[in-house]
Amino acid sequence: MSEEHAKIAVIGLGNAGLPLAAVIADSGITVTGVDINEERCRRINRGDNPIPEEAGLEELIKAHGGKRLVATPRFEDARRCQTFIVIVPVFVDSGNNPDFSIMKEALFSLGRILKKGDLVVLETTFPPGTTEGVAQNWLIESSGLAGIDFFLAYSPERIMTGYSISRLREFPKVIGGRDEESGMLAYQVYSKFICNLHLVSSARVAEMIKVMEGCYRDVNIALANELFKICRKLGVDFFEARENANHQFCQIHLPSTGVGGHCIPVYPWFLIKEMEKREHFGNCSLLRASREINDEMICYWAERIIQECLKINKPLSSIKICIKGITFRAGVKEFYHSRNLGLARLLMEKGLDTYVYDPLLSESDVRAKGLRYIDPKMADLLFDPFRLTFECPEK
Ligand SMILES: NC(=O)c1ccc[n+]([C@@H]2O[C@H](COP(=O)([O-])OP(=O)(O)OC[C@H]3O[C@@H](n4cnc5c(N)ncnc54)[C@H](O)[C@@H]3O)[C@@H](O)[C@H]2O)c1
Repeated sequence: MSEEHAKIAVIGLGNAGLPLAAVIADSGITVTGVDINEERCRRINRGDNPIPEEAGLEELIKAHGGKRLVATPRFEDARRCQTFIVIVPVFVDSGNNPDFSIMKEALFSLGRILKKGDLVVLETTFPPGTTEGVAQNWLIESSGLAGIDFFLAYSPERIMTGYSISRLREFPKVIGGRDEESGMLAYQVYSKFICNLHLVSSARVAEMIKVMEGCYRDVNIALANELFKICRKLGVDFFEARENANHQFCQIHLPSTGVGGHCIPVYPWFLIKEMEKREHFGNCSLLRASREINDEMICYWAERIIQECLKINKPLSSIKICIKGITFRAGVKEFYHSRNLGLARLLMEKGLDTYVYDPLLSESDVRAKGLRYIDPKMADLLFDPFRLTFECPEK
């Protein structure tokens, strides 16, 4: 590895990119962070952390923002770097196909400053084959270079919002190259700031590792949800059964209102769509069924809420129902694919007198989502979607 490859740029300073850029800076390396959000760049350069819920980030931004970590909206400012780490989002569209538009734009901007001998490492979660496929093609097209002129690798981001710094410092991180040389170079560069690093045989394997993890979680949550519903029909306490069933080889997950966020509900679709393109529909029936089971959990909980309402001595339409939490996960102010938000909206569609209370949200935050806020004490029935519990506050 040349010393030059230690001049690193991180493209995308969002929830995933900023903690990574901060950890790299904290290891003593100078980082140029590129993000099209100018206000975010200004904040970072002032040492002002834009993600307060991220444990440990505050100190790092204060120490390195505008110093060892310089944020800029201009790709041109990163021209002298030789390693480019890209971490901008890939979503799925309304047909559940990957939407690469943000990534394509970022790679085209990067291509315009890419030089012979540079290393590009992609971290966004992709369908396996994306790095050596479309991503490489976009870099070639925009840079005018040949593929062999630059090194290309993939290392999935495995953080969790709120715990990103500790994850980057402790959790195993995998890295794989488009070819052996790229893999080796990327491994050497990353070794300077990631302790628990594992080189795998290819970018495609590294891509699959991250997607597999998401599928495992989705399928196992679907299994827990299904067993939970069966237990109720059979008069069995699911939680007691689970506690005693789990051991080294059996890890039943927890039931829920479904699966939200940018990751777990999205990644199974990457594989389902790849199999559909190849007309191997049968290879992904478990993944598809799990998606359906998890998505339909809000219908199950809406029914359970109605059953609880029927125990209250009041007409159904005048019972004030409060959903205690509409973020996709407890403690994280994010709504992407939030099933709890979906549940509140479903109850409203059913004509029920539905309200929301969320400790992370103000009354106007709740109203901005088209929902009504309530002090939980004023509700007739509270449903906590994180603990799956019902409560009737005493009046
Ligand atoms: N957030 C997580 O917990 C998490 C966990 C694991 C993996 N990931 C992966 O990271 C990816 C990014 O997620 P995120 O949470 O950081 O997204 P985010 O929306 O928080 O941040 C994306 C950032 O990219 C910037 N951006 C968009 N287009 C750009 C461009 N053309 N050039 C430069 N910057 C650009 C945006 O301004 C934004 O700051 C996800 O798609 C996922 O694959 C995220």
